[in-house]
Amino acid sequence: MCGIFGYIGEKNPLQVCLRGLKQLEYRGYDSAGISGIFEGRLLTFKEASKVNYLEDKVIPKDLKMEIAIGHTRWATHGKPTLLNAHPHSDGKNSLALVHNGVIENYETLKEMLKNKGVTFNSDTDTEVIVQLISFFYKQDLKKAVFRALKLLKGSLAIAVIHKDTPDLIVAACRESPLCIGYNEEKTEALVSSDPNAFLGKSLQVLFLKNEEVACIRRKEVLVYDKNGKKIEKPIEKFDAEYEAPSKDGFEHFMLKEIFEQPLTIQKAILGRYSEDFGTAEFENLSFSSKDLAAVSNVLIIACGTSFLAGNIAAALLEEKARIPTHTEIASEFRYKNPIITKGTLIIAISQSGETADTIAAVREAKAKGAKVLGICNVKNSTLTRESDSCLFLKAGPEISVCSTKAFTSQIAVLSLFTLYMARLRHYSKEEGTTFIQDLKKIPQKLKQVLDKAPEMRQLAEKYSKYENFFFLGRRYMHFTCLEAALKLKEISYVNANGYPAGELKHGPIALLDENLPIAAFCANKQTYEKILTNLLEAKARGAPILAFAPVGSEELLAIADDIFWLPSTCDEFAVFPSTVAGQLFAYYIAKIRGTDIDQPRNLAKSVTVE
Ligand code: G6P
Repeated sequence: MCGIFGYIGEKNPLQVCLRGLKQLEYRGYDSAGISGIFEGRLLTFKEASKVNYLEDKVIPKDLKMEIAIGHTRWATHGKPTLLNAHPHSDGKNSLALVHNGVIENYETLKEMLKNKGVTFNSDTDTEVIVQLISFFYKQDLKKAVFRALKLLKGSLAIAVIHKDTPDLIVAACRESPLCIGYNEEKTEALVSSDPNAFLGKSLQVLFLKNEEVACIRRKEVLVYDKNGKKIEKPIEKFDAEYEAPSKDGFEHFMLKEIFEQPLTIQKAILGRYSEDFGTAEFENLSFSSKDLAAVSNVLIIACGTSFLAGNIAAALLEEKARIPTHTEIASEFRYKNPIITKGTLIIAISQSGETADTIAAVREAKAKGAKVLGICNVKNSTLTRESDSCLFLKAGPEISVCSTKAFTSQIAVLSLFTLYMARLRHYSKEEGTTFIQDLKKIPQKLKQVLDKAPEMRQLAEKYSKYENFFFLGRRYMHFTCLEAALKLKEISYVNANGYPAGELKHGPIALLDENLPIAAFCANKQTYEKILTNLLEAKARGAPILAFAPVGSEELLAIADDIFWLPSTCDEFAVFPSTVAGQLFAYYIAKIRGTDIDQPRNLAKSVTVE
């Protein structure tokens, strides 16, 4: 999704910005642009495609700009065209601006400005901000930004430059992250929506809060509160780990990350359990065991794949720790008046830690006095800073837009958290030790699934001709099948609806015939006989059946058209091999259908707008 990067300093700002934008590419975007000041003129370069093309356009010009701001855009208002790409500038081409977020009252403001003679060139809400700042500008950029902010409604992170002040970037934020980094020698300053884009530099970093405005110069960074009063901000030392994204010989990031899972599960659990005590142990868990023993109910909030992991965690917490647990899609939760009591623990799950709806839901929960435990993969992300305590996935950067390894790591971490909560309650040491031993076997079992990737490819050949699927499962396999269906939709653009199998007869069965195959997730032993009956009902209506089942499920031989055999596990951990099988299925169908797996259409890795 949209990303901001700006630079002022001794290096070539244009080149530093291009490198910064490349760091932001993984978030998903459709166009990119850079503006800078060169010999007193404002120059802007844009491409309605990838940063590489922008680079090809800009680098040969060999411009040593004084300052530059760049942007990767994921279209919200207006198509992904050159005109709608950021940076946007005013009619006089004197100032340029990049923006993340959504301006809710842009139509009213646009009308107001048009009535005052301002001409607009794009369909974006962003152009309203730049025209407004230009309208208020009287030789003082900071003042003009403050005046504009007063009128703007919605979320924003902005960086603005003006040709009259080639040594200044003004930045501001509201409900959308923005941070500023500078080196100790004060020879360079950077601004970005994501500190991980700071290119492996060792910097002093400050994070802007709502309504704060910063004036960024090479030698100093001054921050003002919403009343224009200068404030001192806490500075963090930040060493941005720089790991150049690499596919390690795999054709796509998605495949690489699917194959990483035996290792990422190990990393997620390593050092986080004690077999002797049959319990989990977490570094940096800032809630005391007394706090957690007093938790009376859990509310899990998340979006997308993380939400589906949250549902599996909820089933675990209820079954193993006997704690009433609900899940809420973050975008819904934030507009409810949630019931939060003294004993409520909120768990917010987000791979990126930047999903706008999840962050807004966390803020809403905290405003009601709730304690928030974050489950996150990205250090220094907004979620990690705003939760009361955070457990990291340690899965390494997830580049593929389709989330794979983060999902299984979320479940691994939340399984251990469930164990911890269960041991604070009724779980015996022996039960805890068995739980750990079962979990420790998972990486090896995932290797067995991955070894069968060629077989999955053959199955995908057979099933890739269908345009619609039903994915069925029960208990732990219910949300596992929803995640597998989501993967297929995201990456192959095939319609896949997931259902708890028992629900089939209450409506969806009307659609069944020989053109609607069923992907059946049969690894839940507790409900195995029940799903067999559901599949017989589907078979009677001619639906082709592909079963994902643990070895030994012989009854399926007479029902399913095809079976992908999985290693056997206990019910609660069957999600791991079944998920990996679902990921491989989605991947190979997408590959056979020829979709762009590294850049699936319309999707963003990190959704930073509402
Ligand atoms: C986007 C991604 C999904 C992801 C969701 C939540 O929609 O494309 O793969 O599951 O955001 O992301 P988060 O970073 O909060 O887990």
